[in-house]
Amino acid sequence: MYASWTGTCKYVAKCYKNALEEAGHEVDCFDVSTPTKQEKATGKMRPSAEYDVIGCGSVIASQCFSELLVNYVEALDKAYFDGKKAFVFATAAGGDGSARARMAKMMQSRGSTVVHSYAFYATHNYPPLLRGHMVVITPAMIDEPMDNAIQLLDAISAGEAITHPTKLLAGIFAHVITDRTCGFFGKVTVDPEVCTGCEKCVRVCPSEAMTMVDGDSGKVAVKSGKCRYGCYACFNNCPVSAITKQLANPAKQPRFLWNDEYLRVVRHANLPKLERVSRDKYLEMVKEANAAMQ
Ligand SMILES: Cc1cc2nc3c(=O)[nH]c(=O)nc-3n(C[C@H](O)[C@H](O)[C@H](O)COP(=O)(O)O)c2cc1C
Ligand code: SF4
Ligand code: SF4
Repeated sequence: MYASWTGTCKYVAKCYKNALEEAGHEVDCFDVSTPTKQEKATGKMRPSAEYDVIGCGSVIASQCFSELLVNYVEALDKAYFDGKKAFVFATAAGGDGSARARMAKMMQSRGSTVVHSYAFYATHNYPPLLRGHMVVITPAMIDEPMDNAIQLLDAISAGEAITHPTKLLAGIFAHVITDRTCGFFGKVTVDPEVCTGCEKCVRVCPSEAMTMVDGDSGKVAVKSGKCRYGCYACFNNCPVSAITKQLANPAKQPRFLWNDEYLRVVRHANLPKLERVSRDKYLEMVKEANAAMQ
């Protein structure tokens, strides 16, 4: 199961699923990014005895897994973990810190043997790096999950417990993003003149902050609830660009390591080569990679 705000974890989950199915395994893949999706997942999940392996992957925000995913996993019956092999993965801008280790620990404490743990670096949609529609990604991000899926398969066959190293950049993010600062992001507004009422933003919002109301010419979305994550899933998914995003109060922004400094640090840390591409280009790359897997 995975929680994904901008699609990276979803893509990794798909790569994993494909590789496992090609190797003859039966795989259920659950999107638990939003409360509505969690309800759906619960309805489709089979009894615990039918699963041998359990895996959890998440977007990293404030150096944590999505709290919706963590809560979901915590609430699952212990039988889903007890005696099972487990794996964790995260996609992050570079600071997954000890998030995977914490998730792995939770699974271990419920009786699982954690055999695989991996962080993919994809800075896509990391608020301090957002400049208009430009995002920064590792081109390797497209292929890496496919390669990593092979490692996952080997790890599942071997069944050996692993330890969970934390990543180098954790310290940087400690003062860049905190739970307190996270709320500064994600001020979004819907233009009722542009909104076509497709309800996509309602479906993707992990905060359940969007609702539909009667507009002048049909249903339109409004942000009626609190935006808890600032994930911009609503913005990214709106097909007609009816949603604008802005920082809550730029004057009160916490101190960031802005683009160039951040990239300098990332390069210094020997992470994979970073490249600037447009958001559209990125989405195109993901689409092509997805199509290649069909
Ligand atoms: C509000 C917000 C906070 C974030 N905080 C962090 C963070 O603390 N550390 C990090 O490495 N990446 C952070 N990111 C970047 C995401 O982890 C990264 O873009 C990830 O690949 C997104 O995964 P997804 O596409 O599956 O949602 C943050 C992104 C958002 C939107
Ligand atoms: S309202 Fe906030 S939490 Fe909901 S999708 Fe938009 S940015 Fe994300
Ligand atoms: S995704 Fe865009 S068009 Fe669809 S309901 Fe939301 S704001 Fe309106």
